Amino acid sequence: MKGFQLIATGAGIPSRVVTNDDLSRIVDTSDEWITTRTGIKQRRFCAEGEDGGSLSIAAARQALENSGLDPAQIGCVICATIAGRYLSPSNACLIQMELGLPQDIPVLDLNAACSGFVYATAAARGLLEGCGSDSRPYALIVGCEQLSVLMDMTDRSTCVLFGDAAGAAIFRLCDTPFAVDLGARGDMAITVPKGGPIQMDGSAVFRFAVDALPRSLHAVLEKTNQTLDDLDWVVCHQANSRIIDHCVKKLKADPAKFYKNMDRYGNTSAASVPVALHELAEQGRLQPGMHVACVGFGGGLTWGGMAFTVGETLNAHRAEQR
Ligand code: COA
Repeated sequence: MKGFQLIATGAGIPSRVVTNDDLSRIVDTSDEWITTRTGIKQRRFCAEGEDGGSLSIAAARQALENSGLDPAQIGCVICATIAGRYLSPSNACLIQMELGLPQDIPVLDLNAACSGFVYATAAARGLLEGCGSDSRPYALIVGCEQLSVLMDMTDRSTCVLFGDAAGAAIFRLCDTPFAVDLGARGDMAITVPKGGPIQMDGSAVFRFAVDALPRSLHAVLEKTNQTLDDLDWVVCHQANSRIIDHCVKKLKADPAKFYKNMDRYGNTSAASVPVALHELAEQGRLQPGMHVACVGFGGGLTWGGMAFTVGETLNAHRAEQR
């Protein structure tokens, strides 16, 4: 099996900022409660004219521009989402249309909730190996959610947790180490009926997450013959700061390696990992040659871990423009 390397990132961030204080004017909650229980200070909701489709197109466009690739070089497109613009066409097909991507490639949406980006990356590698060509070893992978339309804004136990966003990445087939660990345990602890609203047994999900996250991280490290010390970054799904803290403690890990940005975006499900990767790259803290692990967990209940290397040409075109 070939490896898979990150070579570009992008993000589509909605313009409307909703703070904890804003929410405390709608439901009986407070900045203090939300901050101490979750680490979230604010989230973004789509404003008029924005939706899951427009965010995912913006994120994908930025990743493609940052890569410097010609659209004709993209060998597959997967958008991980539970909240695209339409049931059909898929968000991935909207991206294909807008970016002028090739027609003879696989283009699809994938639903693995908050583990979606990791699942999509693993699936994209498989698709490239199965139907790609030597001239198109690149996959465009997007995680995108518009969860604001799926929330009951009178339910304080859920409406303070989630936000909208999209993140994108381009991965390339190559020979550097890559491993995935995917799984699911059919369970109704987080349920999103068609049209919403999101319903959740918060403490059951918390217990699941603090078990699945370290297990999946260990599983991918074992497959790549690495230890936590070999990793430069661990980018977990940004559901809740306390879940990450709990895992850092359990793993006796260096907390500085575990990136967090839920304070600014809340839980954006499939978008959270690629948005975090893009932020790290933009801040110059994700560098070529670095070793990274990402872990997603959530609705399904699903989990997904992956370990990969950052390519020499990470966002090379963007760097040239600076
Ligand atoms: N503001 C104020 N009080 C709130 C509140 C809010 N937004 N939401 C719930 N409460 C109240 C509850 O009603 C309860 O009050 P009671 O004791 O009078 O009944 C109290 O706070 C404690 O509720 P509880 O659910 O036990 O809180 P918690 O400490 O378990 O925290 C979560 C709740 C949701 C933050 C926590 O369970 C969690 O992080 N779970 C994981 C959720 C998650 O990350 N899901 C997505 C995974 S992809």
